[in-house]
Amino acid sequence: MNYSEIIILIALPVVFIIYALVVIAIFFSPSSIKSLFYGAPPIPTPKSEIKCALKAVELSEGDSFYDLGSCTGRVVAIARRDFRADAKGIEYSLFWYLLSKINLRLRGLEAEIIRKNFLDVDLSDADVLYMYGSPMLMKRLENGMDKENSIKLVSYCFSFPDREPEEVITSPKGKNIFIYKI
Ligand SMILES: C[S@@+](CC[C@H](N)C(=O)[O-])C[C@H]1O[C@@H](n2cnc3c(N)ncnc32)[C@H](O)[C@@H]1O
Repeated sequence: MNYSEIIILIALPVVFIIYALVVIAIFFSPSSIKSLFYGAPPIPTPKSEIKCALKAVELSEGDSFYDLGSCTGRVVAIARRDFRADAKGIEYSLFWYLLSKINLRLRGLEAEIIRKNFLDVDLSDADVLYMYGSPMLMKRLENGMDKENSIKLVSYCFSFPDREPEEVITSPKGKNIFIYKI
């Protein structure tokens, strides 16, 4: 075995271990842990369900669209690619923020991911909001909303505790999809 082969043999595992440690560090970063316990677990909406929800809320070309808690960026990608919306995601966890940015870049889609708590983001330019969050998160969002009724919000599975939906539809997988004007 020559000198360069020995270097490669040592360098490859070292690079792999550093890479794995970086991924683990980001995954267990404070923001990722916090979003898990205080927000909602990172479970993406199934693709066919997303299309059904976005059709139900009548998302149209050019609409300003936000996914509140965008995780893998799947909803943002479908809103951009299939509905031609001006789609953005808001994600608190560093891990999912970075992964969704890579995901969108690989698909060649132009869509912004904002790394923030969505409760702190000015959403006044939004036409349509998408949400798949825990009942606790729904409650916190509801408390922060004004009563202007100009933005459409579609929520997968969960409803607001103290607000009547405009419409409730059943998805292909038998889940409730709630449409609100907020
Ligand atoms: C159930 S997943 C939904 C993912 C995506 N919307 C979908 O339907 O495929 C919830 C995501 O919201 C994020 N999240 C929870 N609370 C948040 C907050 N206050 N601000 C921003 N992101 C939040 C979590 O990190 C997680 O990735």
